Amino acid sequence: MLDVAFAKPALPKSGAVVLLIGEGEMPSGLWQQADEATGGAIARALAAAEFKGAKGKTCTILAPGAGLSRVLAVGLGKPAELKPLGLNEAGGAIAAAMPREAAVAIATGTLQPALAAEVAFGAVLRAYRFDKYRTKEKAEDKPKLGKITVLTAEPPRAKAAWEPLEGVANGIFLTRDLVSEPPNVLNPAEMADRCKKLSELGLKVEILGPREMTRLGFGALLGVAQGSVNEPRMVVMQWNGASGSGRKRGSSGKPVAFIGKGVTFDTGGISIKPAGGMEDMKWDMAGAGTVVGLMAALAGRKAKVDAVGLVGLVENMPSGSAQRPGDVVKTYSGQTVEVINTDAEGRLVLADVLWYCQQKFDPRFMVDLATLTGAMIVALGHEYAGMFSNDDALAQKLSAVGSDVNEKVWRFPLHDEYDKLIRSNIADMKNIGGRPAGSISAAQFIQRFVNNKPWVHLDIAGMAWSGKDTACVPKGATAFGVRLLDRLVAQHFEG
Ligand code: BES
Ligand code: MN
Ligand code: ZN
Repeated sequence: MLDVAFAKPALPKSGAVVLLIGEGEMPSGLWQQADEATGGAIARALAAAEFKGAKGKTCTILAPGAGLSRVLAVGLGKPAELKPLGLNEAGGAIAAAMPREAAVAIATGTLQPALAAEVAFGAVLRAYRFDKYRTKEKAEDKPKLGKITVLTAEPPRAKAAWEPLEGVANGIFLTRDLVSEPPNVLNPAEMADRCKKLSELGLKVEILGPREMTRLGFGALLGVAQGSVNEPRMVVMQWNGASGSGRKRGSSGKPVAFIGKGVTFDTGGISIKPAGGMEDMKWDMAGAGTVVGLMAALAGRKAKVDAVGLVGLVENMPSGSAQRPGDVVKTYSGQTVEVINTDAEGRLVLADVLWYCQQKFDPRFMVDLATLTGAMIVALGHEYAGMFSNDDALAQKLSAVGSDVNEKVWRFPLHDEYDKLIRSNIADMKNIGGRPAGSISAAQFIQRFVNNKPWVHLDIAGMAWSGKDTACVPKGATAFGVRLLDRLVAQHFEG
């Protein structure tokens, strides 16, 4: 991670300086000092560029004098409309504008220390890059932002606000790393091993293999896994931040629960996918990746909550031992499923893990995340994740938090009539409902494994991977959901 420090405002003698400028703001403080030191170069450049501090606008002034490599002005928009997210985006713009500066001083003017920390958060998130497999790129050619120093009147308070954000950023990076890994490296066993490392953060991590899952009766998850030489795993991660530290348990004494689909590669199985774009299915474990990163984030910032994270890890392959269309499997819940299409595998994995979660933990509520349906991308593209829920209050909380952190969710309906789409002639249900309402019938399937619990299902098929850079998310693995769920916990379920 990019190096972050906080200091009192002082004009550096070299390197880059960033000025965060609100719309209509007049030069003062470090801005004025920098302008004087450079003989008015900054004022002249901003005037020539017609820079007025509008939100999202930036202006770069190269080698303005006074030993500085550059000055970057970043517009914050109207001060009265300033929100933490806007400062994350300003931070992101800083990282995007200067990928290679060795030292960047960011003047935050009169911003509150907590908001100054949000600038660092945005810069750090945007500066992420997954480059471990680029062996021929010379070190000096790698975009690598050196150190950022956030200049603020109260460095200790800004630093205190930064510490939990740093924990969340580490969780986000873990998710991005996992989702970016190629599928020959990150198979279920490898992903489970990486989960195990989270015990260093104080999480309790348990790994179940095929023998344990056979004993339990995970017929649905094991049916998906049986075509692959790479064995499945289920990982159970526990963070006891409310009860573990001798404090009394959260109001209900029950943990909050997060469940992720972890298909480390989805070929479709016998119902095989077409070749074009199949490589994308390495990120079919993004739901699980998000749960792992979220648990790391909660532990990293020592959240005062009891949380459990469960991930079902399998590889969906065609082979002589693969399950067939027409197979009937018995889930851990006892319900039977006719597998019509082996490519509708995520719901089969989630079925057993969700049921296990309820049996074992009796959680306060559950949120599952899955790159579940291509139909979700058809419906919402890459702006919103699809949300399905049996609990209006929880759904509303997630919608609101989603807009705050720019991880937006849009609620879809569930209904008995949609449930009829997955009736089977031979078993309790079938695993696909046909083309109409494909994302909803998938959610109805999952709901059959929800046993009177508040529950949200997030279909993140369109959100896990991005084809373009955005303010705080470089293209590639997004880690969508880590911030969203971390904030949900922070805002509504801690203490
Ligand atoms: N992992 C896919 C869904 C997916 C597709 C995610 C494209 C991201 C991008 C899932 O396992 C799948 O194959 N779903 C099928 C379901 C169908 C067989 C009912 C789909 O969406 O085509
Ligand atoms: Mn599939
Ligand atoms: Zn899949």
